[in-house]
Amino acid sequence: MAVKNKKLNLKDKYQYLTRDMSWEPTYQNKEDIYPDERFEGIKITDWSQWEDPFRLTMDAYWKYQAEKEKKLYAIFDAFAQNNGHQNISDARYVNALKLFLTGVSPLEHAAFQGYAKVGRQFSGAGARVACQMQAIDELRHSQTQQHAMSHYNKHFNGLHDAAHMHDRVWFLSVPKSFFDDARSAGPFEFLTAISFSFEYVLTNLLFVPFMSGAAYNGDMATVTFGFSAQSDEARHMTLGLEVIKFILEQHEDNVPIVQKWIDKWFWRGFRLLSLVGMMMDYMLPNKVMSWAEAWEVYYEQNGGALFKDLERYGIRPPKYQDIANDAKHHVSHQAWSTFYQYGHATNFHTWMPEKEELDWLSEKYPDTFDKYYRPRFEHWAKEHAEGRRFYNNTLPQLCQVCQIPTIFTEKDDPSMLSHRQIEHEGERYHFCSDGCCDIFKDEPEKYVQAWLPVHQIYQGNCEGGDVETVVSKYYHINIGEDNFEYIGSPDHKRWLAIKGKSSDEKAGGADKNAA
Ligand SMILES: [Fe+2]
Ligand SMILES: [Fe+2]
Ligand SMILES: [Zn+2]
Repeated sequence: MAVKNKKLNLKDKYQYLTRDMSWEPTYQNKEDIYPDERFEGIKITDWSQWEDPFRLTMDAYWKYQAEKEKKLYAIFDAFAQNNGHQNISDARYVNALKLFLTGVSPLEHAAFQGYAKVGRQFSGAGARVACQMQAIDELRHSQTQQHAMSHYNKHFNGLHDAAHMHDRVWFLSVPKSFFDDARSAGPFEFLTAISFSFEYVLTNLLFVPFMSGAAYNGDMATVTFGFSAQSDEARHMTLGLEVIKFILEQHEDNVPIVQKWIDKWFWRGFRLLSLVGMMMDYMLPNKVMSWAEAWEVYYEQNGGALFKDLERYGIRPPKYQDIANDAKHHVSHQAWSTFYQYGHATNFHTWMPEKEELDWLSEKYPDTFDKYYRPRFEHWAKEHAEGRRFYNNTLPQLCQVCQIPTIFTEKDDPSMLSHRQIEHEGERYHFCSDGCCDIFKDEPEKYVQAWLPVHQIYQGNCEGGDVETVVSKYYHINIGEDNFEYIGSPDHKRWLAIKGKSSDEKAGGADKNAA
């Protein structure tokens, strides 16, 4: 009755929603209703211990989110009407959005599917409700990101077919395979992978750089999306921590299983974030902080405190953490070198940093940049200036697990590529690291099925054997518009026209004072 309803406080309402909407089955076995709850070996003795710290009820959720959404779309409209794209720092920035839209927004959608699925798999009602709400959040994130960036699609190239590209383009198989791996795991591994390792431990390294990158570069639509998603992310992060503590507190047998997942998903997340490192150090015309600094703050300090806290459950820091901490001085440079060479097969443009940017990198990476990377970049810049812009026409060897080309180097020898290979049932498999090799060895039957873009091209499964056919027909990248060097590209020319400059002013495309 309505009168009675009014008297319920939020806590009671939440209790009714998560507990009283649930029931003990009488004519079906609980094991048959929730068949996926046990095969991973996780033991849950008391689901009632699950507490959602936010105690958000559905009606409060809808009301709050609808209000946020209204404000958000008002700002998107204003941004479009005022031609907000003309006020960004420099059109090179849009390439970071191309990477985000093809690499990250589809992951929000994958997260939506993942949470919707696991939300059906737990016999505990509290966990089911939390997963359901997060599923809706993630669906909204994928939609609002597409809306936030849709205005740019009217003015710049490479943003026209993000979902299609996510499924096919070689480097996008890196983020795609990450979520495919999580979604095809059991429900507890999914939560450890996404809620804990990704959303709790590593999400700041993805969202803070992109959102403050947007702010530093005048992209108000994306900044506003970031603010709108922040309250959701706070909820997701809290869930991530609660999940892990709940599983660990339920039974001591869960500890080694969770530890193995933390080792695995830390490593996969770290590899995935190479793309973000490259974006921060190379793709933002106005830089926020270096990748190494971000890693120190958001992983070494925050993660350090977290793993100290988890020690009492018998959990130690991720196995290959030291290698990741050392790699912060290298990964962004190695990734950008790769994209620069393969810029004919990407939906965004690449370029060599300008003099001040090279100096910034030298300053931020005093031990590595001048020694290992600057000479190579200056060489490429010189080649380009002399009419020989370098493109690499070979296809690289990919790691069977993270699907990144084996471009990274050994911890103690940055002049040596890190490469592992093993034989499994008569076939040879290649890896970028011990981290990825370990993951394979633990579940070879899963990773032998990996859909590796380079192998698929060679097998003739991508509409053709030559790069040009694959890029245009299979990837839907418009040759000469979306790909190749930034300087002289249609995007660059359009930007110069917006800023009232002629296209022979070669360096003008990167003029920071233009805005
Ligand atoms: Fe999200
Ligand atoms: Fe999230
Ligand atoms: Zn790998």
